[in-house]
Amino acid sequence: MAIRNVTDRVQLLGTIDWDRRLFDALIPLPHGTSYNAYLVKGSQKSVLIDTDDAGKEGEILNQLETLPGLDYVVANHAEQDHSGALPAVMGRFPEATLLCSEKAKSMLMDLLPLEEARIRTVKDGETLSLGDRTLEFIYTPWVHWPETMSTYLREEKILFSCDFFGSHLATADTFVKDENLVLSAAKRYYAEIMMPFRAPIVKNLERLDAFEIKMIAPSHGPIYNRPELIMDAYREWVTFPPKNQVIIPYISMHHSTLQMVKRLEYRLRAKGIKVASYDLTATDVGELAMALVDAATIIFGTPVMLGNAHPNLIYGALLASALKPKALFAGFMVSYGWGAGTADKFPDLVPGLRVEWLPTVSVRGLPREDTLESVDALAEQIVEKHRAKGLIK
Ligand code: FEO
Repeated sequence: MAIRNVTDRVQLLGTIDWDRRLFDALIPLPHGTSYNAYLVKGSQKSVLIDTDDAGKEGEILNQLETLPGLDYVVANHAEQDHSGALPAVMGRFPEATLLCSEKAKSMLMDLLPLEEARIRTVKDGETLSLGDRTLEFIYTPWVHWPETMSTYLREEKILFSCDFFGSHLATADTFVKDENLVLSAAKRYYAEIMMPFRAPIVKNLERLDAFEIKMIAPSHGPIYNRPELIMDAYREWVTFPPKNQVIIPYISMHHSTLQMVKRLEYRLRAKGIKVASYDLTATDVGELAMALVDAATIIFGTPVMLGNAHPNLIYGALLASALKPKALFAGFMVSYGWGAGTADKFPDLVPGLRVEWLPTVSVRGLPREDTLESVDALAEQIVEKHRAKGLIK
């Protein structure tokens, strides 16, 4: 990637990973991603904020090739997609000191071959003078690891937020151009790794209210020169009640479960509820994670297989459980051949959901009219629950 100027004193370095299609070996990346590093030059000192993904060392070393010296490297976050190139950068600039939060130090030492003597921890609120520029370190824990911090460039009012506010988007645009595209990519990122940490994120957002921010420079995706775009989106995602939406992750082997899914979709739509179903044999689980940000109700559909829910449904249920969405209600629709197995225990598959469980609808064999009437009754219950919570206007 060519070095790009953000301001007279700030440059964007790192890698645009156009071809990456999976993150954390879990979430599909339809638009790739980027690993951003920022070089800040004060009148006396220079700093590199974050580095590059492990395996991309050559890219950032090329970008730094003509830099005569570097005083500091800031590691806002210890995860290797930003710290992976730290050993190479520290090797290239033996005079540089590595700055990080107190918790990050031991994590960086665990994850990477770094010299402890070259690491200096910074406290929350500590400042660092670069001459005519000043950095302030702001602890922003749990976005999404405990050691994470952001770095604020006072004179230019730029917040270097690392993962916080990031988006999985490979783009040649330095700044956000297509706001809808970036918000979608940022929601995908939030859904996968931030959603379980809503309470600390609320505190971090409140903390940032004290800062005048003209630009947010994350370590994934383009820079926000209209920070309220992403800050308002985060406020909605973490604090707003869920929406009048139902999602149905399901597996169907011989169409019995599918019939129940289609009937439930039909009944809910007829009542004005937004509903989306996700066939877990084929769905992009990133789309499912994004839907979990807003849904008030989750209904899982599965056949019984080997005495339990279908393994692919268990995978989707485990993911939903781990992401701890703000859904209020959940239920199961189950079909089986000769035995219901452990169907009455299926809610135990999703202990991370803090929901009111709705009655399970189950059927032996093909759903007939009595089963479909039970699905209709489930739909009515969902409508009533949403109405009682004020989700239906
Ligand atoms: Fe982008 Fe938590 O690393």
